[in-house]
Amino acid sequence: MAADRIFSNWDDTHSVLWGHAPIRLAHNMHKSPLFSMDHLAELIEHYPREHYSLMQTGVKEGKRIWRQGDIGNFSGRQVIDAISRGDLWLNLRMVSDIDSRYSDLLAQMFTEIGEKVPHFALPHQYNAGILISAPKAQVHYHADLPGQSLIQIAGRKRVHIYPSNPPFVTPKNLEDIQLFELELDMPYHEWYDRYATVLDLEPGQMLNWPLNAPHRVDNLGTVNISMTVGYENEEIRRTRIVNLANGLLRNRFGYTPKSRSLKGPAFWGKAVMQKALRNTSWVKRERKARNEIEFRLDHDHPEQVVNLSNDLSKAA
Ligand SMILES: [Fe+2]
Repeated sequence: MAADRIFSNWDDTHSVLWGHAPIRLAHNMHKSPLFSMDHLAELIEHYPREHYSLMQTGVKEGKRIWRQGDIGNFSGRQVIDAISRGDLWLNLRMVSDIDSRYSDLLAQMFTEIGEKVPHFALPHQYNAGILISAPKAQVHYHADLPGQSLIQIAGRKRVHIYPSNPPFVTPKNLEDIQLFELELDMPYHEWYDRYATVLDLEPGQMLNWPLNAPHRVDNLGTVNISMTVGYENEEIRRTRIVNLANGLLRNRFGYTPKSRSLKGPAFWGKAVMQKALRNTSWVKRERKARNEIEFRLDHDHPEQVVNLSNDLSKAA
């Protein structure tokens, strides 16, 4: 693959729109052997527990479901089969750290983007996750803190992308995500859809959108394999520092932050403060309570899903 170009239909409009508006591009990464079923099954089987998320999603009795599970005693292939049958969603997080062949592929992708987009500062840090999701799986309305690209490998999905400003996303929303690592507590109203850009994705297509733009995803009746890439350059890094510092001011000290400046004394004061406080026991305790594992896949159970009780840990 290294000899081939990744992007096949890039034009001047893509170069000026990158980072400023949602854009859909053609790529050839879906043809890589890194995304064959055999390779993915093997990857799942040996994936470190701390780096994958198995989620159950959907709506039950009018309430949104969003809970986290464990692959239990399933093989990689059985996990993919289970996903194709149910409302499950597997994210192999940090795959670019775990297998360097994915990071080589992404390095090539960012090099090509850097050649085509003069205003894009190349990321000093990125990480990719492979998402395998059920035919009806949904990702609810949320925003991400790093820059984001969504690369479609197999299956079809519809992505709604919303403006990256209030009321769709507020400074407080971004602070809470930074502080608690919880993306899914953002308020959403159906009328927001009138302001969304709606783009369908097929294998060989990818999306990029402005920083922090909220989005939601509906799979269109087929199992989906996608790769999400989160990336950070200097400007994005500073934005995250401000989110964390302002979140601490608001949540811990009851103070409403007035500045989101990325420069000057207000920024550097916050940079020092968030560094001192970000890993205190208060922040860690809040994160743990909001990220519990609630089910496990299991052959010995008739429904192949075992619900785990977290009542004790939640009360702690
Ligand atoms: Fe996202």
